[in-house]
Amino acid sequence: MTHFSFKSMVSTLCQKSAVGLASAVWLVLAGGTALLSTDVLAEGNRVTFPDLDKLIHYTTVRRGNAVEHMLTTREAIDAAKKGQPFPNGTHFVLVDHRDGKLSRYFVMQKGAGWGQDYDARRRTGDWQFQWFLTDQKSINPSENTARCQSCHEPRKDDEFLYTFSELRSFDPAATPSK
Ligand code: HEC
Repeated sequence: MTHFSFKSMVSTLCQKSAVGLASAVWLVLAGGTALLSTDVLAEGNRVTFPDLDKLIHYTTVRRGNAVEHMLTTREAIDAAKKGQPFPNGTHFVLVDHRDGKLSRYFVMQKGAGWGQDYDARRRTGDWQFQWFLTDQKSINPSENTARCQSCHEPRKDDEFLYTFSELRSFDPAATPSK
């Protein structure tokens, strides 16, 4: 529970501080957070990198030189089809390729009460977001994941997902095009 109270202290401090002070406080506290958690943290959240072999590739989005493979769990696919909420612990991964090369992983993960880590204006249900580098461990330290949340927030009726309808219509017996 130390982790919980420490995290809320971090977010309270950051919200209350002026921008310059917030980043100074953040630099000091970020080190402490890393010591208290086994997760890899840059922006101090709970998202972990999932075991990709356990996830299912349910759709692909192509735009310009980018190819994005969307992955999630079998349980999440079942829940979407039944119109039930996603189980806690669910991961969604956007595996991003640029010019045919793996470039980064965008990960969303849901956990019980995780929305409480954020101010109500920023909150996206119980989902948290993270940008992982290709080593599947390091986080992009300059990303503020509030940006992820603000762009996914308008999708709240679809569980904060952009590819919710693709997920619901995905046939697990079929392999999506790569
Ligand atoms: C400017 C808007 C925007 C921002 C910022 C954004 N996303 Fe998304 N995200 C999208 C869109 C749109 C899609 C659907 C795929 C596409 O069209 O490229 C998507 C898809 C995803 C998916 C696949 C599941 C889904 O929602 O369909 C994940 C996971 C994801 N984003 C995570 C992230 C993370 C993590 C960040 C921040 C590092 C982030 N996103 C920032 C718009 C955004």
